[in-house]
Order: sequence, then C-alpha cells, then structure tokens
Amino acid sequence: MATLSGCNKKSPPGSSEILIGEFGAMTGATATFGQSTDKGIAMAVEEINAAGGVLGRQVKVVSEDDQGNPEEAQTVVTKLINKDRVSAILGEVASSNSLAAAPVCQQSGIPMVTPASTNPKVTQVGNYIFRICFIDPFQGQVMAKFAFNSLKVKKVAILRDINSDYSMGLANFFKQSFVAMGGEITSDESYSQNDKDFSAQLTSIKSKNPEAVFVPGYYTEVGLIARQARTLGISVPLMGGDGWDSEKLWEIGGEALNGCFFSNHYSVDDPSPAIQAFVTSFKTKYNGETPDAMSALGYDVAKVLVDAIRRAGSDNSDSIRMALATTSNFAGVTGAITLDSNRDAVKPAVVLEIKDGKFAFRETVAP
Ligand code: PHE
Repeated sequence: MATLSGCNKKSPPGSSEILIGEFGAMTGATATFGQSTDKGIAMAVEEINAAGGVLGRQVKVVSEDDQGNPEEAQTVVTKLINKDRVSAILGEVASSNSLAAAPVCQQSGIPMVTPASTNPKVTQVGNYIFRICFIDPFQGQVMAKFAFNSLKVKKVAILRDINSDYSMGLANFFKQSFVAMGGEITSDESYSQNDKDFSAQLTSIKSKNPEAVFVPGYYTEVGLIARQARTLGISVPLMGGDGWDSEKLWEIGGEALNGCFFSNHYSVDDPSPAIQAFVTSFKTKYNGETPDAMSALGYDVAKVLVDAIRRAGSDNSDSIRMALATTSNFAGVTGAITLDSNRDAVKPAVVLEIKDGKFAFRETVAP
C-alpha cells in the first residue's frame, strides 16, 4: 500500500474492514462539538458491526482531531484521504471547518457528509459534499418567527461572531426574515472568536433598548456574553441557534441564561419512540450522559453513510457518492432524512428554552 501513493486503491472486497474517516474538534473552544459527534458515530458503528457490518465487512472509523481550526481541518482530511485511504469522510460540525475541508474532499473525489454544518455554502463546494441537517436560511427564519409571533418582540439587537461563516450567515438570514415580517433591528454588533470581553458591544446594544438580543454564536462566547449582558443590566431574553448546544453552555453562562431560547435539531423531551430509544441506549453506553444534538446527528450521519454503502454495493467512493445523492426518507433520530438536489436535508427544527441548566422543548417548526 505504501508504494501506491497518489491513487485511491481500496482493499479487495470481503477481505478487510470498510474505512470511514471522521474529523472534528476534540479539543479547543468547540471541543464538545467533536466529542459529542464522535460518541454518536461510535454508537452507530458499534450497532452496525454487531449486526454483521455492511457488505459482509466490518466498518472501521479513523478519527482525527482538528482542534476546531480550519487549517488543521484541511490537514487532517488530507491525511485521512492520502494516508488512511478512507472511502468517505464524516464531519465537521462548525461550518467554517467544513468549508475548509470540503474542497480537499471534492478534488480527491471522496464523499464528505457533514452531520451539523448549516451554512448553505458548505454543500455548494461540489457534488461530493453532503449534509444531513437543515440549513441556516431556514434556521434564521425559525428564530425570526419565534421572536415575532411567540415572544411578540418587534425590536431585536444582533451580536454576531465575525470569524464564523455560521454566525455571519445565520445573523443575516435572521435579519432578513425578521425585517420582512415588520421587525426592527436596533443594532448589529460583532465580536471575534475567543474574545473574552463583550462590554463595549453590549453597552451600545443596551442604549437602543431592544426587546431581545440575537446571538448566533458558539457556546463558549455565548456563555460569557450572557453573564456580561446581565451584569450590564440587559435583562431581555437572548436568542441563538444550534451553536448554543453544549453541556458547557450552562457551566459557562449559568443563571444568566435562564429564559433564553435557541433553535436546534432535536429535543430530548420529544416523546417519539425513535428519540426515546436512542436517548436510553446512549445513556446506557455513556454513563448516564444525555445526548445533545451533535450526538444524535453523529449517530444519524454514520447510519446514513453506511446505508449508502449498502445500496452502492461497494466501498468505491464514486459509487458511495451516487448512493448518497439518492438518500430518501431515511428514518433518523433527528427526523426523516431526504437529500434534495443541493445535497441538503430538509427537516423540522425545534425551539428550546433554557431553564436551570435544562433545555426545555418549546415548539417544533416544520420547513
Ligand atoms: N450549525 C453549526 C455550524 O454550522 C454547528 C452546530 C451544529 C453546532 C449543531 C451545534 C449543534 O457551524
């Protein structure tokens, strides 16, 4: 194998494992994204292998930590393709990291399926790039409608992360929908990832008296923003998107987050048998831990990929790509997964309310 560099030679069928790559932030400021996804993927693959694998072979996942960094994402995906010679790749969570890695996968002809990146640009990289979640034009609309119709607020401030394709996109999509409904954006402020002090932006936001603040960032900064907002006397609800979903959010933000709302991919409170069975097996496997959305999406993305390999009848990357493209009505934990002509899934979203560290179900919004 070592002498065959440059061509994607697969091991002969029936002889060995089917290799799948996985990349994510296992360390760094978004570490729960990669860790949670990894737990979901590992659980799915364990179930698949216990049931005999796929095409008579066991599935093996090669995981790489990109530290939540776009350059590192590109490096580890290159390694998965050229050194490990995986047939397909799962990842990333953060849209900027998926956007950095996707061109490598596209140029190498290796399918990449992101469980959770919601920025529309990710799958626009090319026909080898897929996602099993909804996209941010929809997620932005969900929170705009929730603010306008359910919270009945008309004046909202925005505080966005300028280094994140996800945050920039979601802020814009929210703004478009909210203004189209007749709402007013009182201010539109920004910060950079890894900032620790948000008092200048929050002071400016406060001076315009918004009835809510939309903060479409990731949990580490959002937790700090919530604390600092309360200290500065901003008592209105903060709202956000799926990037809030982490057990660390409450650890960082604490009570400042009570009465805040965010959109997400699923709710653990959902009584649906598929969700409850998943939550129970996950807790059994992982010492009572409650699966967040990334664990559920990680579980679903591994099952969707293996289903495509089964339908392709081969671990040839191009056959897998073609099978992925026809994924239809796959029964996932996070809902039925059908990929449209843009290789995106069309699925409902939920709105959750933070109550003493719990994420309580508020409503479901259909696409
Ligand atoms: N949707 C986010 C992004 O595109 C990632 C994310 C998904 C974070 C799900 C948390 C939960 O960057």
